[in-house]
Amino acid sequence: KSIAEESNAGGGAASKPKESSSITEHLESVFGQAIASAFPEFRDTPVIIAPVNSTSAKFGDYQCNNAMGLSKKLKEKGINKAPRDIATELKGHCPASPIIEKLEIAGAGFVNVFLSKDYASSALSNLLRNGVTPPEVIKKRVLVDFSSPNIAKQMHVGHLRSTIIGESLCRLLEFLQHDVIRINHLGDWGTQFGMLIAHLEDRFPNYLNESPPISDLQLFYKESKKRFDEDEEFKKRAYSRVVSLQKGVPNSIKAWELICNVSRKEFQTIYERLDISVKERGESFYQSRMLSVVEYLRGKGLLEVDEGREIMWPDDTKTGIPLTIVKSDGGFTYDTSDMAAIRHRLEEELCDWIIYVVDSGQSTHFNTIFKAAERSAILNPLSHRVDHVQFGVVLGEDGKKFKTRSGDTVKLADLLDEGMKRSLQQLESRGRDKVLTPQELKDAQESLAYGCIKYSDLCHNRISDYIFSFDKMLEDRGNTAVYLLYTYTRICSIARNSGEDFTNLPEILKKTNIVLAHEKEWKLAKTLLKLHDILIKCSKELFLHFLCEFCFEVCTVFTEFYDSCYCIEKNKQGDIIAVNHSRILMCEATAAVLRQCFYILGLKPVSKM
Ligand code: ARG
Repeated sequence: KSIAEESNAGGGAASKPKESSSITEHLESVFGQAIASAFPEFRDTPVIIAPVNSTSAKFGDYQCNNAMGLSKKLKEKGINKAPRDIATELKGHCPASPIIEKLEIAGAGFVNVFLSKDYASSALSNLLRNGVTPPEVIKKRVLVDFSSPNIAKQMHVGHLRSTIIGESLCRLLEFLQHDVIRINHLGDWGTQFGMLIAHLEDRFPNYLNESPPISDLQLFYKESKKRFDEDEEFKKRAYSRVVSLQKGVPNSIKAWELICNVSRKEFQTIYERLDISVKERGESFYQSRMLSVVEYLRGKGLLEVDEGREIMWPDDTKTGIPLTIVKSDGGFTYDTSDMAAIRHRLEEELCDWIIYVVDSGQSTHFNTIFKAAERSAILNPLSHRVDHVQFGVVLGEDGKKFKTRSGDTVKLADLLDEGMKRSLQQLESRGRDKVLTPQELKDAQESLAYGCIKYSDLCHNRISDYIFSFDKMLEDRGNTAVYLLYTYTRICSIARNSGEDFTNLPEILKKTNIVLAHEKEWKLAKTLLKLHDILIKCSKELFLHFLCEFCFEVCTVFTEFYDSCYCIEKNKQGDIIAVNHSRILMCEATAAVLRQCFYILGLKPVSKM
């Protein structure tokens, strides 16, 4: 039985919420119907529903703000009608809905919506019975291009941001049941491989038989670059290796693979530590497709010769920055590989949505690629969605670009090690090392270390730069991973310490109704039921800080609830004398909602910390 059927008994059947639709979407449909029936000529007006943020209960929970706009539109047609009167008409035309307790007109012409407690109580029961289910959305095939470091170069904090944000976006979209393809667009192709191969041949002549023990690829890169700049003979050979690599000459391919493997191993350890899963499909994958996209663009007459290069303008106005599709030496560029990649993704992978998680510095590049793809009929804006999910730079605590004390770029492995060290100190400072077993302590340490690094990145609006500070992210107050993880652990311990068994929730739900009588119970219930709205908002706008803010809100509202509503009552001797089953169920519902959000945000809660 769906929520609708359960709580709509006897009510009008005009508008049943789907079990999996969000409250906002349901209200949009209710008020959409009201507008269509009260003002048929304005039936296409987008419905404006906003959550009410006032702490005062008299304003209700949600608000429909369409009356002012409708009044304006009527005026344009020569009809004078006050927004308040319009609001009253809308109210009269709303179909009955099981989620609405009552509607009230307020202020200049708002319709305030008061949610129904019966609905909330049965929605929470369903949540406990079936687990947290996703809201219904139109399914898309979506490719997320993220992480994407470059071979033989350091994976830096910019790539770390892309990795963290990209992974969470994938988890969010997967939870919403989209068909998600996770792609690591590795920088594994280009002219730098010529000199790397030539240098490999000299340093490890036996490379075909024996894997070269390159421990420091950056150093190796520097050495080869130095020779490239100073030694003409070497330079020539490097160029010829680029050609043989692109032709697919086996020895060069082998050398290239060996070099890529060194970086690949380093990247993999980072991915494992952070629990990232992404499929490698580097620039090299597109070699043959670069040849064909160039033919395609040439065939359409979209390439222009400019000082020996072939360029392409993003649109017919020929303004802005053109793409360089073929260099004067005949080679391809980053632009060429992205044109080949977008074509492959839309025409071969048949994606209808592509998301590029790349720093803001590349926004011109992506805008140009998107426009050029449209101009060349690869991308159809009516059926394809493309997003550049951009993010700002990571700053040090001094507000300058994030560097080590000595001014070098920070190695990600070192950064993660530092996180581990700091989170252990954090736990020790709370005396946790004395109560937890060694294994529990280690789990808690990892959970905190990686959790805080991910969360401090995700909890800010990604577009702004953000200051990397272990001190800040390990604070146990405020919107931090530490606070959330501690609160979650505390919530989980409540049922465990009740002296009763709350593991078989469906059984318990047969005997227990969720009661929302106390003001704080009601507030917590309404907060939890916002989950679907938040998930939809995050996926529409591709911002995860909304989800972080929601987790923080859930934790603070839970704390208010727990402070004023006893769940377990004890006598002076500390013996349990009463267990409030409904409230324990509220704790369990809170934990379930947090668990789902934590999964999306990459936080791994532990049962003790
Ligand atoms: N490797 C590039 C860099 O480090 C990022 C690639 C992003 N993805 C893409 N399709 N261009 O800047």
